[in-house]
Amino acid sequence: MQLISETAVEGRPGPVFPEAYPRTEGLQLHDGKVFTHGQPFDTFARLREASPVCWHPEPGDLPGFWVVTRHADVMRVNGDPATFSSQRGGILMMTPKPGMGHVLLQRASLDTMINLDAPQHLQLRREHMPFFTPGYLNQLKAKVVSEVTRMLDEMAPKGGGDMVEMFSSRLPLYTLCEILGVPEADRPKFLHWMHYLEMAQNLAAEQAAAPMTPSLELMQFVADFNANVEEMFAYGQHMLHKRRLDPQNDLMSAIARAQVDGQLLSDEYLDGSWLLIIFAGNDTTRNTLSGAMKLLTEFPDQKAKLIARLDLLANAADEFIRLVSPVIYMRRTALQDAEIADQKIAAGEKVIMYYGAANRDPAIFDNPDQLDVARENANKHIAFGYGPHVCLGKRVAQIQLEEAYRQILGRFPDIEWTGEIDIAPNNFVHAIRKLGVRYAPRN
Ligand code: HEM
Repeated sequence: MQLISETAVEGRPGPVFPEAYPRTEGLQLHDGKVFTHGQPFDTFARLREASPVCWHPEPGDLPGFWVVTRHADVMRVNGDPATFSSQRGGILMMTPKPGMGHVLLQRASLDTMINLDAPQHLQLRREHMPFFTPGYLNQLKAKVVSEVTRMLDEMAPKGGGDMVEMFSSRLPLYTLCEILGVPEADRPKFLHWMHYLEMAQNLAAEQAAAPMTPSLELMQFVADFNANVEEMFAYGQHMLHKRRLDPQNDLMSAIARAQVDGQLLSDEYLDGSWLLIIFAGNDTTRNTLSGAMKLLTEFPDQKAKLIARLDLLANAADEFIRLVSPVIYMRRTALQDAEIADQKIAAGEKVIMYYGAANRDPAIFDNPDQLDVARENANKHIAFGYGPHVCLGKRVAQIQLEEAYRQILGRFPDIEWTGEIDIAPNNFVHAIRKLGVRYAPRN
């Protein structure tokens, strides 16, 4: 299972075929800092309108990429894996290369099923499936319900604080650890690891831009970062090897015993599968939980409507996911010359699908920037992707969002965002690190 490295087109800046739409100058979508005020939805709207498949140069001798923003075009790319590959170059804008970040992190972010095409992709995905079936998820839901109650009991007397710290980072972690089968005593470590993973992209950029002698602060952060990354992978290897010998009824055992082409996964793929599941399963849901609170405060009429009609919660969860779109983009690489919305794409070129842009496409969603908890087609969003890689944890995320807000709005109808927010410099995941909330304290 080898990821094919970036291609001949890599290193040759500029598109092969003429651009069918005007280029939008000044786009900086490769820069995490652009995303610290939220996703650039105004820019996305302009692109959808005037330049739906737009060439985006990259700094230095990097090749540049196509930016795809319309719902129909994102579906087209996602739905045609034979043309648009996840394996050739991976799903990140820049294929991780030696020297970019920690070596374990760099390798593990390549060696995962999200970066595979058929047939190996399906073989590995299939092994995960028993832990995402309706039967299994029903049992999981009961645990989520009591964990939400427990967490809200702790929050009640506080009267406010950082929602990420008190709630949003904890629920997805709890849920994921239940699916994986992580012993309770080990779970707090995951919170630290997530903190550093969210900073990985920014760190790589800072290291690249740092002078010959980096600041003491940066050196200290790098040391902490490396220690946490190493601990995370060492823990994963230890647990997965243990489960290989002594399997339990949990996702960790399924990954440990998964076979592709008749062979158990190599240690590299164990690291990759470990990284994928703890990152994909945590960060996305955490940021949607926080983002939903911000939305409910910005649209008080919708909050009142939801409190009055909790039966709308399942729909509202999809509407939150549509508007937050916590996965900002996924990349594909063309395996052969192709066309998207009249734009010719050359084999080897990178195509980046912007989910937040597609999910606010007025061709699909009326008043797309408005929160509408009763929106009839809220579930037409593609924040979970589409096609063979569609999110495995879709129902897990929906269950948590529904249950969290059923209890939060039931118990703290006065809860609101204070306006305080801190968003990580990350162009891949919309990562809310801090979100202030207040409510009347209760016992
Ligand atoms: C709101 C929450 C979530 C969002 C928006 C989200 C989004 C996505 C997206 C867009 C993909 C597709 C990647 C691609 O096309 O290349 C994906 C894949 C994946 N997601 Fe999620 N995700 C969420 C929650 C979860 C949870 C809770 C889990 C696990 C418990 C999870 C596990 C995965 C896995 C394992 C994949 C890879 C599937 C494959 O490559 O076949 N996700 N997710």
